[in-house]
Amino acid sequence: MSRDVELKIPGKNISKKEILGSVIDRRQFIRYGFNTAAGVLAATFGVIGFASILMPGGGGGGGDLAVKYWAKGREDDAWYGSKHLQEMKLEEFTGEASKSVSGMAGASGIWNGVPVNVVYVPHNENKSKALENNVPRYQFGEGVDATGKYVGHFEDLAEDNPLITPNDGIVISFGRCPHLCCIPGWQLVSNNFTEDSWAPGGTEEGGNKLFCICHSSRFDPTALEVNENRNRATGQTFQFAGIKRVGGPAPVGIPIIPANINAGVIEGVTEFVDWLTYCD
Ligand code: FES
Repeated sequence: MSRDVELKIPGKNISKKEILGSVIDRRQFIRYGFNTAAGVLAATFGVIGFASILMPGGGGGGGDLAVKYWAKGREDDAWYGSKHLQEMKLEEFTGEASKSVSGMAGASGIWNGVPVNVVYVPHNENKSKALENNVPRYQFGEGVDATGKYVGHFEDLAEDNPLITPNDGIVISFGRCPHLCCIPGWQLVSNNFTEDSWAPGGTEEGGNKLFCICHSSRFDPTALEVNENRNRATGQTFQFAGIKRVGGPAPVGIPIIPANINAGVIEGVTEFVDWLTYCD
C-alpha cells in the first residue's frame, strides 16, 4: 500500500498544498526516478557514474550529442510520453508551445548520460514586445554565490563564451538540483510554480518554474545569470552560467548546457561539462 512521502517545505508561509497542489505518494516518487532516503539519483535512470558525463559526445547529426526525451513513468501525462528515448526536435517543442498560454514548452530528457530539462522560450518572437505577463523572453541578469556575494553578469560571461547565449529559443539545464542533487523534472507535479504561465523579473511570480520535488526549490528557466558552485571531488569553486534559483533551499541556480540545433535535432554542447561537477 502506498503512502505519502513527507516532503520538507521551506518557508513557513507556504503550505504543502500550495507547493505541491497534490501530494504524490511514495510509489510515484520512486517511479519518477528518485531515492527519497539519500535524495540522490537512482531507480529509473539506473546508477550513472559521474565519469560518463566527461566522455566526449558522438559527433554531428544527432547521435550521442542529441538530447533524448525521458518519459519513464509519465507515459500517460506528459506531452512527450510516447517519445521516451527519442531525439528531441525543435519543431516538437514549438508545436507544443503553440498550444500553451505562455508560448513555452518543456520536457525532461537525458543527454550524454545525465538528466537534463529542456525548455522552449519564444524569445525571438517576444523580445521586442512590451514586458508583461505571458510574453516570455530570456532575462539576462547578475548572479551571486551561496553567500550572496556578487559574482558577475550573464552577458559578461557570454562575451567571453558566446556559445552560452541560447539560440533558437532552447535552454537546456542540468538535471541535478544544487541543494541535495535530486532531479527537478519538468512539471513533474502540478502547482502554482509549474502552471502554464509566465511573469517577468525572475521572481517566484508566474509558473513554468523548474520545481524540485525533494524540498521544493524553484528555478526560472528564462532568467539566466552567473553563479558560483564547488566541485565536490576537488573542492575547487567555479563560475557557471545557469538558470536562476527563485525560491527554496538550493543555494544557487542550475547550470545550463549550451544548445545547438543540428538538422532540427536539439543537441548539447560539451564544452562546459565541468559546470556539472557539484554532485558526487
Ligand atoms: S534536492 Fe532539495 S530542493 Fe532539490
